[in-house]
Amino acid sequence: MTQQKTWRVGVAGLGTVGAGLLTFLAEHPDFAPAGGRASVTGVSARSRSRPRPFDISGLPWFDDPVALATSAETDVFVELIGGSDGPAKAAVEAALSAGKPVVTANKALIAEHGAELAALAESKGAPLLFEAAVMGGVPAVKMVREALVGDEIKSVAGILNGTCNYILTEMEATGRAFAEVLAEAQRLGYAEADPTMDVGGFDAAHKISILAALAFGCAPNYAAAEIEGIAGVELLDIQLARDLGYRIKLVASADRSPDGVLVRVHPSLAPLAHPLAQAGGALNALFIEGRRTGRIFVQGPGAGAGPTAAAVAADLADVMAGAVRPVFQAPAASLSPFTPVDPSKSIGRAYLRLSVKDEPGVIAAVSETLAEAGVSIESFLQKLVENASGVPIVLTTHAVAESVLKAAIERIASLPAVLDRPRLLRIARI
Ligand SMILES: NC(=O)c1ccc[n+]([C@@H]2O[C@H](COP(=O)([O-])OP(=O)(O)OC[C@H]3O[C@@H](n4cnc5c(N)ncnc54)[C@H](OP(=O)(O)O)[C@@H]3O)[C@@H](O)[C@H]2O)c1
Repeated sequence: MTQQKTWRVGVAGLGTVGAGLLTFLAEHPDFAPAGGRASVTGVSARSRSRPRPFDISGLPWFDDPVALATSAETDVFVELIGGSDGPAKAAVEAALSAGKPVVTANKALIAEHGAELAALAESKGAPLLFEAAVMGGVPAVKMVREALVGDEIKSVAGILNGTCNYILTEMEATGRAFAEVLAEAQRLGYAEADPTMDVGGFDAAHKISILAALAFGCAPNYAAAEIEGIAGVELLDIQLARDLGYRIKLVASADRSPDGVLVRVHPSLAPLAHPLAQAGGALNALFIEGRRTGRIFVQGPGAGAGPTAAAVAADLADVMAGAVRPVFQAPAASLSPFTPVDPSKSIGRAYLRLSVKDEPGVIAAVSETLAEAGVSIESFLQKLVENASGVPIVLTTHAVAESVLKAAIERIASLPAVLDRPRLLRIARI
């Protein structure tokens, strides 16, 4: 009988995900799906004395994650610290430079430095795996990088941030404003004390940038993403969108066209019956459109200790199985350059909310202005809202180029009867 190899695992970061992983490995000492066994042989975090949900007293402690990453006792380095730079990046680079396999859940690191890290990993023949970085427990990375490599993916789009989805779901369900629901989410631990990465759309942008790279065989280019978060979503828009048959979701999308790649994150309207509109609470959901396969839809928990640790454990299994693949869809040296598409050239339908004076002729003036600007109206809704300074009117447009739409909005904004800047939301192309 051949002896199973024991892989000595160094874990840096013992927060939500690190705790989840150590708990999982402690509860499943026989976890050996690929034959080898994983045994944690060193840990690193900021504070050695902080109470943890598991006992680390018997494990070698490293103040410096770089020292753990390069220790002769570490066969695989697991980075669960977070952040695009600083100790996480230094430790991952150190491990890869030493030829050690790296598993990470760090989407900021991969989205912002993925190309250079992939080149380093491949030059050393060391795997760099990050299943947990996108959609937590849903195997989106593997699916796009491996299972769909025989297809030609045209677009990926979905809900990639559970905190935003939870906030939008609660706003609609309880009729409370964004700030109130966010404060409650922070109290309940669903949102970070500093919620900027989540509600600003940056976390979703990191994830969709990674998916774009995996799907289209290009280097990740987070800097090219167009990003709008949910802080400006008003309850009134949620209610009016619903009256029109839509639900507002934070939709992250990446589309490939002959012109290049367009990566965007926007609060967007999805038809009420659409699976994206149905994915409520903290769920994540993703559509992948392949030229040969057609549409694939997956949904599941995008965060949390259990699901995310399961994804990290799956990457550990791949390391133990000796699986060697390019970090992205193609070897780092042959990733195609990412050509960003100018978002103003994108074509789509839109929702516009105007606050207008309650006087005759306003609707005609708005309609004429839009028609002159080349924007065709699909539906129109006027609603009296108590205590509102003006009368809200809402319209949806037929598909129009974003540059034409923006020019039309400027013209509408300057009409004397229009009281505030029109609110623009996109209707998701899903
Ligand atoms: N939370 C999720 O559900 C989830 C889901 C998917 C992906 N991720 C990703 O997983 C990673 C970890 O997230 P998390 O939620 O587990 O974060 P977290 O709870 O904030 O934990 C971060 C850990 O990193 C440690 N740390 C911070 N600075 C350090 C340093 N200089 N040296 C060593 N350790 C340091 C902290 O130490 P102390 O404990 O001593 O403070 C803590 O244990 C991030 O990249 C995140 O984006 C998280």
